Amino acid sequence: MEMKFRKNLMLWLVSVLLLPVNMAAQETETLEQMIERSMDRAVSQSLIMAKTLEGMPDLLPRTYENGKLQTIHYNGWVSGFFPGVLWQLYEYTGDKELRHYAEVMTERVEPAKKMTSTHDLGFMLYCSFGQGYRLTGNKHYLDVISEGTQSLLTRWNPKLGVIQSWGSNDRWQYPVIIDNMMNLEMLCFMTQEFSDRRYIRIAEKHAQTTIKNHYRPDYSCYHVVSYDTINGQPHAKQTAQGWADESSWARGQAWGLYGYTMMYRETLNRQYLDQACHIADFLLHHPRMPKDKVPYWDYDAPDIPNTKRDASAAAIMASALIELSQLDSSDKAAEWLAFAEGQLRTLSSPEYLAEKGEIGGFILKHSVGHFKAHSEVDVPLTYADYYYVEALMRLKQLLQKGEGEVNR
Ligand code: GLY
Repeated sequence: MEMKFRKNLMLWLVSVLLLPVNMAAQETETLEQMIERSMDRAVSQSLIMAKTLEGMPDLLPRTYENGKLQTIHYNGWVSGFFPGVLWQLYEYTGDKELRHYAEVMTERVEPAKKMTSTHDLGFMLYCSFGQGYRLTGNKHYLDVISEGTQSLLTRWNPKLGVIQSWGSNDRWQYPVIIDNMMNLEMLCFMTQEFSDRRYIRIAEKHAQTTIKNHYRPDYSCYHVVSYDTINGQPHAKQTAQGWADESSWARGQAWGLYGYTMMYRETLNRQYLDQACHIADFLLHHPRMPKDKVPYWDYDAPDIPNTKRDASAAAIMASALIELSQLDSSDKAAEWLAFAEGQLRTLSSPEYLAEKGEIGGFILKHSVGHFKAHSEVDVPLTYADYYYVEALMRLKQLLQKGEGEVNR
């Protein structure tokens, strides 16, 4: 016992003594060095995760809680993210082992293509099979995406102009959540791939209906809007995961920012660029955005600053803002990029980035799934990792083009 105590004390002393050295090193680190250090950590963590999951057929990671990896099957909404992390790391390294694991984990998601009970098929299939198809051209992956898209479109209602997110219940006839903007990328991809404009038309209609009904005059958004199926109008504007119906749930705001940035990239419809810029303005200048740029789980949470941060919201925002900085030709572009770089610097600090071997192979600490349900609070989440890696890859590409130098 005494030996163990002495060993722990030694480890603590060494880490305390090294802390200023590590912090000083990170303060002087270039963005290239930061990306390399963080991606190397993402690779070593993801290999740990992949090796653990290898012996657990059909399972995919969700979070790490109570000292244990928590998993889901193909039908959990987060099933596609870990395969997507592996594909992006394969792209970064060209490493065959990562590709092998990406293929194995992607295959585990395949049965999702037949699901008609969820709107999350974009997350599940496009982040996994979509990344795999982009990098390998494997036609089977395209078939899976195509079948999954037909399943998703069983939830499209042309009269309401939106894809249904969740089933109806006592409160909601036809609930649509802001997260659903993220599923539209798969529809845009289908139009490009098959030259069939039906898909992108549906994506555009959903995006426009969402601008009209989800957004408030200050460009914050509701989490859930439910439509009256007879008159086609919203009959409820509420929250499921946020603090209150009128609050701004952090991840929801990030999904919207990402969704409209992506929709502008895909359509060049100026309305989406304007929407994305307005959302970015609302978030970047929010009085309760912390100095280190990682949002609290809800911008209106009552205990700020004594409540939890959501690293997933920061990662999604960072990835979206890097893209927005490339699409927006106004003076604001430099601000979007500088903010994203600041977010990535914080997420790449010891406060957020896992030490090697820590937290079961997840990459980022401190995300929030559903605060009020006491579910996944202050834990790693597989989608935080996905968008963090995506943001690092996007920044790396900018730097390679000789851009992205605003925040050194
Ligand atoms: N799409 C569910 C969430 O963001 O928690």
